Amino acid sequence: MTAETLAPAKINLFLHVGAPAPDGYHPLCSLMVFADIGDRVGVTEAPGFRLGGPYGPALEGEGDNLVLRAARALAGRLGGREVPGLILDKRLPVAAGLGGGSSDAGAALRLLREAWAPDLSDRDLEAVAASLGADGAACLWGRPVLAEGRGERLSAAPGLPVMDAVLVNPGVAVSTPAVYRAFDAAGRFSAVTPPPMPEAFESVEELAGWLAQTRNDLEPPALALAPQVADVLEVLAGEPETLFARMSGSGATCFALCAGDYEAETLAERLEAMRPDWWVERCRLGGPWA
Ligand code: C5P
Repeated sequence: MTAETLAPAKINLFLHVGAPAPDGYHPLCSLMVFADIGDRVGVTEAPGFRLGGPYGPALEGEGDNLVLRAARALAGRLGGREVPGLILDKRLPVAAGLGGGSSDAGAALRLLREAWAPDLSDRDLEAVAASLGADGAACLWGRPVLAEGRGERLSAAPGLPVMDAVLVNPGVAVSTPAVYRAFDAAGRFSAVTPPPMPEAFESVEELAGWLAQTRNDLEPPALALAPQVADVLEVLAGEPETLFARMSGSGATCFALCAGDYEAETLAERLEAMRPDWWVERCRLGGPWA
């Protein structure tokens, strides 16, 4: 391996979604943060694309992986390069609301810029990332960001504390387009503007209090498609270490914010014992970790 890096899991602390535009995409506003856990992406001299890790098999047989598409897109932007060997160690569940594909693509773009064109500007790399998906640019740097538009219009996130958290996935893959279709069918659209946001949150308790006034608008349609999400949210809400719990993205992964390291560890251990069939990971949110 010549170089490798973390492709951090993305969490939407809130996700406000509006009525669809004529092209089917939705206006949104989301505060996105990243975890100190994720997939790993590597560049090697031996050509070809290799998939590994516990969730690698879930991607076998799919069309071109986003890592490969990212490499080709950057090669094209630079006027043509030979794509080196690429390795994706898939440690995050797929179709899970964790931005895995976009984060993997972002990791590949960072590694390949380093190898091919260190002088290429951040803005140019963001344009390549944005061409790969609505949240491509937002997932490029693994740092907190406020995303608007379709997810491609980025601005600085408020100051955030590092958040001790537990991520839980009930083992069900959820299709993002299917969740958006169910959202449209329900026909309940609200304004995407968040409540007034302070310049900085001084503590996770203050953040949790503010988040209680926000929403993930994809939670109701995701719950309708994957009722297991309701079980996760109910369990998390009932645990004493949970300051705040919500589903991320289009699901099915949910997160619980905790007051500190000890609380997150305790919660994760209890959930693992209670539900060995769930994917449970204790992590820190914030970043940048990449
Ligand atoms: O752009 P990307 O392929 O990541 O989006 C996945 C799907 O999510 C789209 O096909 C679309 O159904 C939905 N989407 C949306 N509005 C957005 C972002 C994504 O409807 N702003």
